Amino acid sequence: MSDTAPLCRATGLVKEFGAGGTMFSRGTPFRAVDDVSLEMHRGETLALVGESGSGKSTTARLVARLMEPTAGTVEFEGRDVTALSGRALHSFRSDVQVIFQDPYSSLNPRHSVETLVTAPLVYQKRTIPGGARAFTRSLMERVGLDPAHSDRYPSQFSGGQAQRIGIARALAVKPKLVICDEAVSALDVSVQAQVINLLRSLQTDEGFGYLFIAHDLAVVRQIATRVAVMSQGRIVETGDRDQIFSNPQHDYTRTLLAAVPRIDPEWDARRREAQRSREAVGRESVGVDA
Ligand SMILES: Nc1ncnc2c1ncn2[C@@H]1O[C@H](COP(=O)(O)OP(=O)(O)O)[C@@H](O)[C@H]1O
Ligand SMILES: [Mg+2]
Repeated sequence: MSDTAPLCRATGLVKEFGAGGTMFSRGTPFRAVDDVSLEMHRGETLALVGESGSGKSTTARLVARLMEPTAGTVEFEGRDVTALSGRALHSFRSDVQVIFQDPYSSLNPRHSVETLVTAPLVYQKRTIPGGARAFTRSLMERVGLDPAHSDRYPSQFSGGQAQRIGIARALAVKPKLVICDEAVSALDVSVQAQVINLLRSLQTDEGFGYLFIAHDLAVVRQIATRVAVMSQGRIVETGDRDQIFSNPQHDYTRTLLAAVPRIDPEWDARRREAQRSREAVGRESVGVDA
C-alpha cells in the first residue's frame, strides 16, 4: 500500500434498504453494505470483487455520492463528501466518474458521440478546448475510435466501441477517480482484454485512480494494484494483488479463486511456487489446487 494520503477514503460505510417498511413488510432493514472501509490512491487500481449481490455496486454509488449512506463517511482529497455543496459538489461530480456495465443503456441513444462526450462540459458551462468537434475527435483518438465517426449514434457501434465512448465521456472532464462498475463484464474476452489495456494506458498517462468492480477474477488479475474481497455486504479480505491471488487468507477468497480459469502461465507458476514454500514451512494447506 502506498504511504501517501489517499485520494478517496471510505470509512465504516453502511447502506440499509427497506428500513421504512413497505405495504407488505414491517421493514426489517436489509444491510446491503455493512461497515465497509476502503482507500483509493492516485495512479492505483483498487479492485472490488465478490459474487453478485454482495454489495459492490451499492458501495460504488456511495463512494460517488449517487446515494446517501445510512452510516459512515467518504472523504475525497481529505474533504467529507457528504458536506459538499455548490461549486465544491460540482467539481466532485467531475472528479469522480462512473462507467457502468451496459454502455448502450448509459449512453442516450438519441445523442451523437460529439453530444455525449461534450455534454458534461456543456452542462457545466465550461469552454470546450479547441471547440466541440476537435475536442471530440481528439478524445475518440485517445480511446481508439475512428474520429471520423463523431456524428454517429451509440447503436452504430459494437459493445466494445460503445464502452470506449463511455470512457471518452469520462475522460472529457479530467477525472481523478474513475469507478468502473463491471465495465468490461459484458464484453467478449478478446475485446475485454483490449479495453483493459486501454484503461491501463490511460491511467499511466493521466494518473487517476480506479475503483474497479468485477466479479471475474481473471479480469481483476490484469488490472488490480490491490484487491478488496466483498461478501454479503462486508469486506472479508484486502491485500496487494499478488498476495490475494497467491496467498489468500479467507475461505471466501479461496472459493472465488477456485473458479478462475488459468490463462496466465506465469501467474500459475508463481502461485504453485508460493504454495510449495507454504508447504515447506509446514503450514496448513490453503486449498489451492496446484
Ligand atoms: N435500491 C435498492 N433497493 C433495495 N435493495 C437494493 C437496492 N440496490 C441494491 N439492493 C440490494 O442490495 C444487495 C447488493 O446489491 P448490489 O450492490 O447491486 O450488489 P452487487 O453489485 O455486488 O451485485 C442486493 O441484495 C440487492 O438486491
Ligand atoms: Mg453490481
